[in-house]
Amino acid sequence: MGPLTLFTALVLSLCCHFQCASAWTVNNFLMTGPKAFLTYASSVQVGARSGIQECKHQFRWERWNCPESTLQLSTHNGLRSATRETSFVHAISAAGVMYTLTKNCSMGDFDNCGCDDSRIGQTGGSGWIWGGCSDNVALGEKISKQFVDALEDGHDSRAAVNLHNNEAGRLAVKATMRKACKCHGVSGSCSIQTCWMQLAEFREVGNYLKMKHEQAKKLEMDKKPARAGNSADTRGAIAHAFRGIPQTELVYLEDSPDYCVKNQSVGFQGTEGRECLKGDKNMSQWEKKSCRRLCYECGLRVVEKRVEVVSSCNCKFYWCCTVKCEKCTQVVTKYYCTRYTTGRKPHNQTKRRHRLRRGRL
Ligand SMILES: *[C@@H]1O[C@H](CO)[C@@H](O)[C@H](O)[C@H]1NC(C)=O
Ligand SMILES: *[C@@H]1O[C@H](CO)[C@@H](O)[C@H](O)[C@H]1NC(C)=O
Ligand SMILES: *[C@@H]1O[C@H](CO)[C@@H](O)[C@H](O)[C@H]1NC(C)=O
Ligand SMILES: *[C@@H]1O[C@H](CO)[C@@H](O)[C@H](O)[C@H]1NC(C)=O
Repeated sequence: MGPLTLFTALVLSLCCHFQCASAWTVNNFLMTGPKAFLTYASSVQVGARSGIQECKHQFRWERWNCPESTLQLSTHNGLRSATRETSFVHAISAAGVMYTLTKNCSMGDFDNCGCDDSRIGQTGGSGWIWGGCSDNVALGEKISKQFVDALEDGHDSRAAVNLHNNEAGRLAVKATMRKACKCHGVSGSCSIQTCWMQLAEFREVGNYLKMKHEQAKKLEMDKKPARAGNSADTRGAIAHAFRGIPQTELVYLEDSPDYCVKNQSVGFQGTEGRECLKGDKNMSQWEKKSCRRLCYECGLRVVEKRVEVVSSCNCKFYWCCTVKCEKCTQVVTKYYCTRYTTGRKPHNQTKRRHRLRRGRL
């Protein structure tokens, strides 16, 4: 595979994630030269993918659940929406790329980067000095900018919003970094500690950006003049709209469509058929609300499905050395959103129980 083929593959796959329009410049990537490109390309791809995986996790019990189809379809129509959800996709992808590259540096995967040793040996605070391997975000940040921001070829408000959200994603990686320390001193007295800055788990970056998604700010733009006017006017209008919005906050331009219903033009299937959770298990607030948000509030009802799960159980240890287990069949109840069948009243036990539950909500 020649450099350009691999290059094109990455570009296309990133394109899917970032909803970029079909026409965009390959030249942006080549500025650093094909060799530098190839060094980082696979890590960039891994990073972008981990961003999308995290997106799917964070939105698992939401109406919009980060489906591949909403990320891809827009590529084909050249339709690029800038909703609250797209803002999250941009931020988490830029963060994923920066995060992966930074981990790569700490692991010694690249020749030209490693731990941040600039402060090693210096006093950090009372009772501790800098030591260990501080994660060095500089290269990851730079490569994330070069690769991810290069996907924006326009100079309109949409491009400005996407770039802003990419940057918010990278800031999230820095904002969630933590100081980790190790004790030293006679017999673990911890009279002196060495500390270093390390990346949080990527899950934590996801949680942080999910919160930013909830607080995302809508950018008020005059749409008409920006399109027809000269570029100085456009830049002025964009700068004006961004005034007072901190770089850490996610921004969007358009209200989200109704994610309850199937919408062909945004490639969204609606919530019919989606699984939701019930029961008094140890659930997060999102899980607890899932049936209400996905089914009831979307005018759907919940059906129970009983699924048999076979697992090992009653294991006994026999001297020596075998473990024998029985096979147990467990019936697990799962819940799914389904449409009301018009004209027929729910009349059987299962259905009545659901109605009672619904009444409680
Ligand atoms: C960077 O890290 C990712 C994830 O850990 C890994 O898949 C990838 O191979 C690494 N890149 C290099 C060049 O080692
Ligand atoms: C589909 O989404 C588009 C874009 O948000 C919106 O304009 C349109 O009204 C939606 N269609 C339906 C059927 O909800
Ligand atoms: C519920 O989850 C929390 C946090 O995940 C945990 O600390 C707590 O022990 C759990 N409680 C039960 C009853 O499992
Ligand atoms: C009662 O309703 C449930 C849920 O729709 C369905 O799965 C079940 O087959 C029905 N039972 C009878 C006896 O109709």
